[in-house]
Amino acid sequence: MTRILIAGNWKMNGDISMAQNLATMIASEGDALNCEYLLCPPFTAIQTVASAIGDSGISLGGQDCHAAEAGAHTGDISVGMLTDLGCGYVIVGHSERRSNHGETDADVKVKAEAAVEGGLTAIVCVGESEAERESGDALAVVGSQVASSLPDAASATNTVIAYEPVWAIGTGKVPTVEQIAEMHLHIKSVLTQEFGSDSSKTFRILYGGSVNAENADEILRTDGVGGALVGGASLKAESFLAIGRSCP
Ligand code: PGA
Repeated sequence: MTRILIAGNWKMNGDISMAQNLATMIASEGDALNCEYLLCPPFTAIQTVASAIGDSGISLGGQDCHAAEAGAHTGDISVGMLTDLGCGYVIVGHSERRSNHGETDADVKVKAEAAVEGGLTAIVCVGESEAERESGDALAVVGSQVASSLPDAASATNTVIAYEPVWAIGTGKVPTVEQIAEMHLHIKSVLTQEFGSDSSKTFRILYGGSVNAENADEILRTDGVGGALVGGASLKAESFLAIGRSCP
């Protein structure tokens, strides 16, 4: 049985001393909880976090990667650089990458392919904008992102999907549990269409967008939710650990 995944996306936050302290606090309790914990610090803090978590069982990941193995890509980080530091995961296609860096589904797919080929588990983010939700297009938009952003060789062990409605990220607004369940069910059906239904294709689907210590319990118990991708509330040990304590 796959454990629920609680992933912390620190985004562009934290200096080395914050990273050291936060990772040490998570490591001291995280592995005793009934879920898998994953920390995705900024690239500059990955090594610090790697030594702070040691062999505690906490997982480590990057927030993005380049599709190429190496070369003239100023400012980018390869999959090999992440695995070299002990990462097992990488987030790709976060809505902030899609909007701030113009990443398309095709860009996200080649990154996810590279991640999987390089031995990482890709966390592929999808989600509709507020306008798309209001115009009734959310299911279609997210379904098409799922169909176009995942690696061809996606399986339950190398790929995780994170459903993050753009309007819920960092806003304190959260969809209803009915909306979350409906979208997770829809994503599941698109995955079955694309990849078939054998058990190696039973993907974990995370919910992300304003998850916090107060709403985690309800969200993590919602049908189809296999974990959470947490931004703001992952920056404090107290709130991030409280989310893990809510794991059913
Ligand atoms: P948030 O961010 O929890 O601060 O809304 C989630 C994310 O962007 O992954």
